[in-house]
Amino acid sequence: MIYTAPSILSADFLNLKEEINNVLEAGADIIHLDIMDGHFVPNLTFGFPIISQIRKLTDAPLDAHFMVTNPDDYIGEISKNNLDYVSFHFETVYHAHRLVQRIKSIGCKVGIALNPATPVTVLSDILHELDFVLIMSVNPGFGGQKFISQSIKKIKELKQMIMELGKDILIEVDGGVTDKNAFELIEAGADILVAGSFVFGTHDYKTQIKKLTGR
Ligand code: DX5
Ligand code: ZN
Repeated sequence: MIYTAPSILSADFLNLKEEINNVLEAGADIIHLDIMDGHFVPNLTFGFPIISQIRKLTDAPLDAHFMVTNPDDYIGEISKNNLDYVSFHFETVYHAHRLVQRIKSIGCKVGIALNPATPVTVLSDILHELDFVLIMSVNPGFGGQKFISQSIKKIKELKQMIMELGKDILIEVDGGVTDKNAFELIEAGADILVAGSFVFGTHDYKTQIKKLTGR
């Protein structure tokens, strides 16, 4: 089963309620939330005042991708907002193992995100603790960037590591995902396709989602 997770970063922020309802109706499985702090990445997006409104709007799974230098600081807010998937960047923490345990303890599915230049092997001693891994296929910070093709090799390598563990750990890919690379990504082992501009860039969300998954 391949899941699509449209990133609302490319949605119309002044009509967020409609945008989220429309994209879910069009077949999106998960709503991807890009939380940027202007430190880890050179961009700012939104925080918990918006996230809690979105949580009230829908029961659909919410996937919070934290691109912040201090993800530990948000554990309290994460638990209050009943998020489904939570990922933080490996590059931002000293104690990934501890943060993984904290996120698990509040009942969220936990993932670690990797920048394009961070090898998947950094996860070899923590992978068994994770529910998913987020492979960044662009440098985080902005929607609408060009897909970095090296990501395919990383996904294949990660898939191999997961198969060796024999655990059900999902691979999420984020950045520059379109109908041009979706098939190759799925073939390499991706389970969750995040897509921002590809989905929200047209008015026909249903067609765009279908182009990614074929369903
Ligand atoms: C980038 C974000 C992505 C982004 C994807 O930092 O993590 O989720 O919104 O947008 P597209 O699909 O346009 O590359
Ligand atoms: Zn993201």
